[in-house]
Amino acid sequence: MMRLSDCHNFQDFRRLAKRRLPGPIFNYIDGGADDETTLRANSSAFDQCDLLPSVLTGVSDVDMSVEVMGQKLDMPIYCSPTALQRLFHHRGERAVAAAAEKHGTMFGVSSLGTVSLEELRQQHSNPQCYQFYFHRDRGLNRAMMQRAKDAGVEVMMLTVDSITGGNRERDKRTGFSIPFRLTLAGMLQFAMKPAWGINYVTHERFRLPQLEDHVDMGGGASSIGGYFTEMLDPSMNWDDVAEMVADWDGQFCLKGIMTTEDARQAAAIGCTGVVLSNHGGRQLDGSRTPFDQLSEVVDAVEHRLDVMMDSGVQRGTHVLKALSLGAKAVGIGRGYLYALAAAGQPGVERALGLMRDEIERDMKLMGATKVSDLGRHNLRFRDHAEAPAFRMAAE
Ligand code: FNR
Ligand code: LAC
Repeated sequence: MMRLSDCHNFQDFRRLAKRRLPGPIFNYIDGGADDETTLRANSSAFDQCDLLPSVLTGVSDVDMSVEVMGQKLDMPIYCSPTALQRLFHHRGERAVAAAAEKHGTMFGVSSLGTVSLEELRQQHSNPQCYQFYFHRDRGLNRAMMQRAKDAGVEVMMLTVDSITGGNRERDKRTGFSIPFRLTLAGMLQFAMKPAWGINYVTHERFRLPQLEDHVDMGGGASSIGGYFTEMLDPSMNWDDVAEMVADWDGQFCLKGIMTTEDARQAAAIGCTGVVLSNHGGRQLDGSRTPFDQLSEVVDAVEHRLDVMMDSGVQRGTHVLKALSLGAKAVGIGRGYLYALAAAGQPGVERALGLMRDEIERDMKLMGATKVSDLGRHNLRFRDHAEAPAFRMAAE
């Protein structure tokens, strides 16, 4: 039987998660949009270039801390906000926040989170970002921001790549939705994982505390799909966001930016960060990967805001490559979700710890003692890949 101690990398956690979770839930995490082309491309993008190590630099002490969005992180990765975590493990966000705290890094709480942002802010001292969507009801947007402000959330993260739901065909086949509307095949897959079912029904009731005062998710009439189409505002534009940024008056980033023009516009309306992301390949299939866009965007914003990225990060070397191109920090999604599903808090601690060890080891092997030692001089793109303009690290 496979155990947590047998998990040494992303694929191992994924395998263990697959054994533990009912098929519809595993596939919700694992899947992407349409043909999953972008989902696959996200990780392989990192293989288009190679690291060039420097040697004999004296690397007995490595400092991998970074400052991003005004927050000091002990390592350059953070847990990107994800929905519905108590479906994956009964402790959900509690386990993720505690594991991130142990590793001195930031965790995100989703609007579709299953533990309240207030509880998490009270229980933990590491930086928290709150991910939210833009609702038709402007009063609701203001109320949600006020709630986050009152709770002491450090960073606001507005997701801008989900103006409508992505086409997740795996979920259509299983009937995965909230509330569950399983197909017969989906139900059979739940029946095959009774341990998950027993655990689920013997713990606290499933809730969506960020939204439950505003949206009825239990009545059958509404669902997450319904939430996206009925509650979110597809007319959202730069003026609306500029108003929110001014209202928040603190660290505010846009998640799901891909172009240089949009990144510059984010800086112009007062955002302090952007996250290059294609939502882990779950929204627009065929979209370019954040890693491929990174150097262009970093150059375009010229330090006016912090550039982060997520999507496809599975290895310490992926993180080093992104940092070398100028990312301030890198978000992971499935990388901690599989570990959460596999083993709860000890799982997430182990996944983050393995990433931490990889980053530290790889920095040593690269001859870097601090993150700012990494730069474009450390990378070479293969001939067939587009090479970003060469810039010195310290610029
Ligand atoms: C997500 N992601 C996400 N993003 C967001 O802004 N709000 C959300 O509620 C969610 N929910 C969510 C659920 C699940 C199951 C996954 C896998 C992802 C996207 C997430 O924050 C991040 O952008 C991607 O997961 C990054 O890609 P990788 O690391 O999963 O490849
Ligand atoms: C997802 C949404 C909830 O990716 O962001 O499933």
